[in-house]
Amino acid sequence: MKKTYKVGVIGATGMVGQRFLTLLCAHPWFQVEVVAASPRSAGKPYCDAVGKKWCMETEIPESVRDKIVMDATGDVEKIASMVDFVFCAVDMKKDEIKALEERYAKAECPVVSNNSAHRHTPDVPMVIPELNADHIRVIPAQRARLGTKRGFVAVKSNCSLQSYVPALYPLDGKFGVKDVLVCTYQAISGAGKTFETWPEMVDNVIPFIGGEEEKSELEPLKIWGHIEDGVIVPADSPKFTAQCLRVPVSNGHMGAVFVRFENKPTKEEILSVWKDFKGRAQELELPSAPKQFLHYFTEDNMPQTKLNRMLENGMAISIGRLREDTQYDYKFVCLSHNTLRGAAGGAVLLAELLCAEGYMD
Ligand SMILES: NC(=O)c1ccc[n+]([C@@H]2O[C@H](COP(=O)([O-])OP(=O)(O)OC[C@H]3O[C@@H](n4cnc5c(N)ncnc54)[C@H](OP(=O)(O)O)[C@@H]3O)[C@@H](O)[C@H]2O)c1
Repeated sequence: MKKTYKVGVIGATGMVGQRFLTLLCAHPWFQVEVVAASPRSAGKPYCDAVGKKWCMETEIPESVRDKIVMDATGDVEKIASMVDFVFCAVDMKKDEIKALEERYAKAECPVVSNNSAHRHTPDVPMVIPELNADHIRVIPAQRARLGTKRGFVAVKSNCSLQSYVPALYPLDGKFGVKDVLVCTYQAISGAGKTFETWPEMVDNVIPFIGGEEEKSELEPLKIWGHIEDGVIVPADSPKFTAQCLRVPVSNGHMGAVFVRFENKPTKEEILSVWKDFKGRAQELELPSAPKQFLHYFTEDNMPQTKLNRMLENGMAISIGRLREDTQYDYKFVCLSHNTLRGAAGGAVLLAELLCAEGYMD
């Protein structure tokens, strides 16, 4: 792999785009060369284009403040010639995003995407680097379909499932996870909002997030899937059922999980699997990988969204309240930061994996 990679952020003025910039400004391998957004922002210095939409806890990084925003759709070839790969998080129609990401890939510019558009394209890997890192081996088949040498699209999964899938996946290998019921309690930043831009969410809960329950039930099956004949074949188990609620929290998605196993483990066995679990991201010591991916809290009132979402820079999963259930085998709660682990941070970690495994050279 190279020592440093030049990267572009497509959708840099959006909420996830801003997160990318705050993570990348101090990154040991990646250097932001291009910021791009809609034609509305193109041609303006980044600080003017983002203006009052800047909503990170820290200031706009000096290295991008004065960069002239490029046109994400009009300047594809130019951007592709300036960078080693791009991160993409844009608010456009699904078919437009699909086409845009393939245009970058066909211009020999790999795309690491936050968008959902390509999550179910069979030869596009959807990766949580600790769990299914081996799915990136489908990339040569995708390159063959696209007719590219370097270009490809890789995606991260939806933010809602990044709390419960990491907790369940390592248990499945040992005890066979059969049925999962999950209720998620999701932060407003997941909708690209703050309390200033969505005042109706103060003191409120909304029992509907468009498309979220389908994603929460279906996407885990692709993560559990395997590569066969150049595509990822989704698994047909475990079975998931989900209800997703929007709650008045700025950042952090919590899940309340009920699980039934093929072979019911003891509580101690579950805790020991979580404690010892390490994935490819930890083996490779990737810069954004948490040292301990799964943290178990023994206190009855933990984890809490406000207290624990930033655990290991917002990249670790917090779990608590594991106990036996009267209808399922066990129940527990889990928490992850939706715009760090669940969005920009998860994509940066995926890009690190792709670099370390030689897919970005
Ligand atoms: N927020 C989350 O926690 C989260 C988590 C996971 C995935 N995602 C996904 O990430 C993507 C971005 O989400 P977000 O919350 O960051 O959205 P957002 O705050 O609304 O930002 C959207 C970005 O897309 C750009 N854009 C809009 N129309 C465009 C066009 N026609 N051509 C090129 N660029 C265009 C915007 O540029 P302008 O500023 O110039 O309009 C802006 O940079 C979405 O697909 C979302 O589903 C979000």
